[in-house]
Amino acid sequence: MAKNVNLKKLISNMTLEEKVGQLIQLNAVSFSDSAAEITGPVQKWGIPAEWINKMGSTLNFSDANEMITIQKKHLENDRNGIPMLFMMDVIHGYRTIYPIPLGLAASFDPELVYECSRMAAKEAAAGGVNVTFTPMVDYVRDARWGRVMETAGEDPYLACVMGATQVRAFQGSDLSDKENIAACVKHYAAYGGAEAGRDYNTVELSERVLREYYMPAYKACIDAGVKMIMPSFNSLNGVPSIANKWLMQDVLKKEWRFDGVVISDYNALGELKVHGIAPDMREATKLAFANGCDIEMMSNGYYEHLCTLVREGVIDEKKVDAAVMRVLKLKKELGMFDDPYRGADPEREKALALSPEHRAIARRAASESAVLLKNNGVLPFSKDVKKVAIIGHFADNNEIKGFWACHGKNEECVTVAEAVRAKLPNAEVVTAYGCAPLWNDKSTEGFAEAIEAAKNADAVILCLGEPQTYSGEGNSRADIRLPGMQEELAKAVMAANSNCAMLIFNGRPLVLTDVNECPAILEMWFPGSEGGNAAADLLFGDSVPCGKLTMSFPKHVGQCPIYYNHPNTGRPKWTAEDVHQAYASNYIGCGNRPLYCFGHGLSYTKLDYEAMELSDTKMSAEKPLTVKITVKNSGSYAAKETVQLYIRDLFASTVRPVQSLIAFEKIHLEAGEEKTVTFTVTEEMLRFYDASCKHVSEAGEFVIFTGYADHKYKEAKFFLE
Ligand code: BGC
Repeated sequence: MAKNVNLKKLISNMTLEEKVGQLIQLNAVSFSDSAAEITGPVQKWGIPAEWINKMGSTLNFSDANEMITIQKKHLENDRNGIPMLFMMDVIHGYRTIYPIPLGLAASFDPELVYECSRMAAKEAAAGGVNVTFTPMVDYVRDARWGRVMETAGEDPYLACVMGATQVRAFQGSDLSDKENIAACVKHYAAYGGAEAGRDYNTVELSERVLREYYMPAYKACIDAGVKMIMPSFNSLNGVPSIANKWLMQDVLKKEWRFDGVVISDYNALGELKVHGIAPDMREATKLAFANGCDIEMMSNGYYEHLCTLVREGVIDEKKVDAAVMRVLKLKKELGMFDDPYRGADPEREKALALSPEHRAIARRAASESAVLLKNNGVLPFSKDVKKVAIIGHFADNNEIKGFWACHGKNEECVTVAEAVRAKLPNAEVVTAYGCAPLWNDKSTEGFAEAIEAAKNADAVILCLGEPQTYSGEGNSRADIRLPGMQEELAKAVMAANSNCAMLIFNGRPLVLTDVNECPAILEMWFPGSEGGNAAADLLFGDSVPCGKLTMSFPKHVGQCPIYYNHPNTGRPKWTAEDVHQAYASNYIGCGNRPLYCFGHGLSYTKLDYEAMELSDTKMSAEKPLTVKITVKNSGSYAAKETVQLYIRDLFASTVRPVQSLIAFEKIHLEAGEEKTVTFTVTEEMLRFYDASCKHVSEAGEFVIFTGYADHKYKEAKFFLE
């Protein structure tokens, strides 16, 4: 079928069943040839073979070979010759895995994010993927939620930048280019607002807070041209997203004019019954379809009821045609009618996977995502060190790719011990396991060996963290300290040898309060395929840490949700951190501040913020403000620094956050070099949602500062006229 396939004509020739087939998504197992493998929906819902041939898309297949096999078989049986769409969660890499998104965002480097996403797009396209369920731009404040690992953290502006960058990188400027794939922004809306950080939990938020913090990143992705959107599982103010008219119709379709494809999340229609919103799948189908769900992923509402609902006149067939048109339009834009196999190419898939070029990108990304939380001078270690002890579960462990690692394999990740041995061929490198990072494992059996190794070493690397399965979907935690006996292990090892640095491998901010006496702490996140190499580069000074936290690390789990951009109270705490202040908004026995806050991240070099100059003390919509910030590298390492710009609106008609990031720029500074970064502050950047949810700016005084949350290196004031 040619490029100029007439979609209207095509749809007019389709039966109702064929149209509905385009709106159903089943997993790849459903298309398997072998009867033994027929499990999942086909078995559960008793879907007959003639329906299987009508299905418009699939998810979760294994590789280019499987894509080609399924597509070929499908086309042999589909009288309309409409190719299927192949979708997958390519979240932080396809086969070459780069850091989890929360880590990658800590690089504060959109160019790096672009490069990583391009790499993933190329590998995935060669693997037969046409659509990725990325970017996930849910706004988050609660580290207990396991899916914070997929996000850009607690700043809405950063989430916009990272989300839009990924959309542009995956889709490119021409979707028919076989190295590009369509993106799907998710999970609309406010999935990250789950009460108590428990996955899938209820979300109750005012429209003002929703619009100001939670919604901007979905909108930014739509403005960047994202082709697909996935409504979230959660109920928002009482209504699950897929059935939420205000979200799906009033905002998404009417206000934002989104005209791409809407796909349900996995069995979200089925969950309408569990939520107690729909008594059965027929009602679930009516609700979801009426609110604009084009494709139903992995439930049986459309298959069982959509045709009947149309025949009974409950649903207008024209609406089905419109949904099918959106799906076919995407297939056409992807060039699937010209080449139904698109980029799927087993040879190329193999050649790209973990190629030296891709490993190099993953290594740089892992290094630039790491955040040096603390360093009293032990890091970087000297390369002349004779004896190194690497201790802890992650010492020689390749389980560091993290959740949602697509086709990444543990055995393809470089461990810390492997990398240190490669970097220091003349040193003696000893590893000791210590203990398991499991919440219910209290064994201290490995302590003696670990302590002995630490005592005999010149330098100790403690490799602690959470298992990969403690974050990601469904993996919330109530206690976010290092699980198991790791805190005790750390204390014992530190007592044995104080020339010690701690690496943390994890998918969320952790409470590190009880191990914070460690001389150096380097947050590695789940760094991916090149994690060990990146860690060794950082530990021995071949790269200089430059990541900055994008989510606060609480002092205590009881502080959650905790976020740097919180509104002021009428009784804010003003005394020293650890002193309880009566009749003020604070805790007894715990300060209000996190242990490590948003924007924090140290370097090996000394970075001096020399000056911040404003073009004026007044600005207006017509006359933006120019802010020049000069940073000098007074240390001895070349390094990168993220210059951050924050504002505080001192008086407004609604309570404003005590600080908000409005711009940032990452710069490279040679040792001794000085650079000036210029930011333009426009009136638009000062807007907020007022009590009636209008997006406005209000005249008045603002504080502007550079530094990071709660730490003002240079500060000034200006008026918006
Ligand atoms: C997740 C989505 C994901 C989908 C398909 C769901 O369980 O919530 O983020 O895209 O599965 O794998």
